[in-house]
Amino acid sequence: MTEYKIALVGFGGVNRGLAQLIAERNAEWKATLGFSLKIVGVTDLFLGSIVAREGLDARQLVALPGEQGAFAQLPGGTAEAFNETIIKHSGADMISEATFTNPVDGEPATTFCRWALESGIHVVTTNKGPIALHGAELKDVARRNGVAFEYEGSVMSGTPVIRLASQALAGADIQGFEGILNGTSNYVLTRMKDGLTFNDAVAQAQQLGYAEADPTADVEGYDVRLKVVILANELLNARLTVSDVACSGISSISPKDIAQATASGASWKLIGSAHREADGSVRANVEARLLPNEHPLASVSGALNAVSFNTGLLGAVTVCGPGAGRIETAFALLSDIIAIHNRYSK
Ligand code: HSE
Repeated sequence: MTEYKIALVGFGGVNRGLAQLIAERNAEWKATLGFSLKIVGVTDLFLGSIVAREGLDARQLVALPGEQGAFAQLPGGTAEAFNETIIKHSGADMISEATFTNPVDGEPATTFCRWALESGIHVVTTNKGPIALHGAELKDVARRNGVAFEYEGSVMSGTPVIRLASQALAGADIQGFEGILNGTSNYVLTRMKDGLTFNDAVAQAQQLGYAEADPTADVEGYDVRLKVVILANELLNARLTVSDVACSGISSISPKDIAQATASGASWKLIGSAHREADGSVRANVEARLLPNEHPLASVSGALNAVSFNTGLLGAVTVCGPGAGRIETAFALLSDIIAIHNRYSK
């Protein structure tokens, strides 16, 4: 039986969700998955940090108040975020990196991932910034140090897309994809259909915890653009950067546009897509599209996400599920840990 020592980097909703899963399911995982997890350190820029090689009580961590410096309330904890110490020197076999997404330079998450990988520590992350902006470099660092760098949750949280496409659909000849890859914008479009104004619908999405810290990234397509870059590079072997992907959002769609679409049997959706051209190059974009209601993505409503892979052997293969949420995203981290266990424990 394997026990992995894990350090949690960032302790907002997602890693708190992972701590909750550990508190509730560690015993079950021993029997069903063949491993358990011991939290040996936690660090968070706002809450501070704590380290304990003998293991921390996951329930106590979950109950920690979200106040500045809160880790100082626990024995051995401090209000300071000793990120480098926790990542490199807490004795962790792996880190779970779930700090905020920085769409400009991917920092500080990219540095956190690099520190771990260079120290021979596996990384699981849900953070789009490091993958979309520095994915090739970080994968190379992982390969050179003989450790894993896994990021299933960076595209559709716990709904499987990256491993589904790269493993289960390997050989199916994926030529492209189109998807609803942002829960907030899909929620806003759905609620506008119900008669809400754009601003009220965005405010609701924020209250429900779907939106990014700055919801501009959701409604202007920037969040989808990061996910399109990740998927295109992963599945189509492209080398796209963010500036290669033309991007527009949903903020200019008016209640009148929505009503007209409904009357004509169609729905507005924010679609991120990429496809391989005849010359082998990959083209990608993000834009609002008017989809006829018969289209498989037209009926995907609320905060749900969906992606349809266009394959040579099977035609369209579509997967639909949550694309955000704390436990949903924490599950993606678990799926990454399972992948690491299956690869390294055999
Ligand atoms: N803000 C994102 C969304 C969260 O609404 O889908 C998940 O990336």
